[in-house]
Amino acid sequence: MHISKNILYVGVNDRATDLFEGQYRVPEGISYNSYVILDKDIAVMDTVDKSFTAQWLEKLDRALGGACPRYLVVHHMEPDHSASIAAFLEKYPDATVVSSQKSFSMIKNFYGVEPKNTLTVKDGQVLELGERSLKFVSAPMVHWPEVTVSLEQTEGVLFSADAFGKFGDPGTDGEWDEEAARYYIGIVGKYGVQVQNLLAKLSGVTVNKICPLHGPVLDKNLEHYISLYDKWSRYEPECDGVVIAYASIYGNTKAAALLLRDELTALGATVKCFDLARDDMHLAVSYAFRYSKCVIAAPTYNAGLFPPVREFMANLKERGYKNRTVAIIENGTWAPMVANLVSGELAAMNNVSTLGTVKIYSALTEENKQQIKELAEALK
Ligand code: FEO
Repeated sequence: MHISKNILYVGVNDRATDLFEGQYRVPEGISYNSYVILDKDIAVMDTVDKSFTAQWLEKLDRALGGACPRYLVVHHMEPDHSASIAAFLEKYPDATVVSSQKSFSMIKNFYGVEPKNTLTVKDGQVLELGERSLKFVSAPMVHWPEVTVSLEQTEGVLFSADAFGKFGDPGTDGEWDEEAARYYIGIVGKYGVQVQNLLAKLSGVTVNKICPLHGPVLDKNLEHYISLYDKWSRYEPECDGVVIAYASIYGNTKAAALLLRDELTALGATVKCFDLARDDMHLAVSYAFRYSKCVIAAPTYNAGLFPPVREFMANLKERGYKNRTVAIIENGTWAPMVANLVSGELAAMNNVSTLGTVKIYSALTEENKQQIKELAEALK
């Protein structure tokens, strides 16, 4: 596949794995993107997961048409992109591995390999390939400390490492935002400050195409993707909407959550409702970051939070949830604890305001139904 006349796609799509990084569901697969820049000196951009080494080397062979690559550029050392470095160097031992300083110890530690030829690149350094050149921009913690991105300066092609990545098959058209948000919030969401630093370094730079390490190449409407990354990394909501995140043991908390969903829908609010025990946890977490308000509805369990709700709260905390409004629906039969526990966790977060609590003692009463109606009015 041609990205342009001299830039080729040689990545692979993994439809076999059920869980990317051991935890993210990928029903449409996950791609490991790799690219080749054909010039006087040929550069191969990153490798692929170890399950696809042979397939990748074959694709690479075809793209190279018998030529030898001069460089292997390593933007990111996580094994989904680096696990075929040793096989590449076995086949092309004279190639120079180009990466940031931190990568080389990782190559040795992961794969026991010390490349014969190396080029350590710093922020702002330019590598001439012939007619084209690559400018490196360091991007620490987007998503690991060694990450660098590079800009092919003739055509304005940004090789963005994990940034702007997405779950799913890069070859299928479809909506980008939801699966890209699930990917970003899940994997990079903790590092908003570092993403802001990268966006600041790239502002004013001409970028015509973005080639990430996962998902489709972006070549149209780039302002849309960049503005979403800007919002996500500032922890600003994309829109005024309500996420209802619930878990239920005997269906009573579920009934409260669904009643609230219906009341909000009737009022014309934007609502997403997730059963945390059954729906995709990381999708629920991503919507909590994308929307302005969240309602946590949970039963008390062993004098604590019901486990799926505990996990949801831990995910919010780990990713720096902030600048949002949260309401609580607490259920408990003899010693309700949810409001205390959730409020305590929210108080430790930055700028999270609470809209109050609806208290249910086992099953919804008429009074509870009225309180939920009033909560919907307050949230809409
Ligand atoms: Fe796709 Fe952080 O690796």
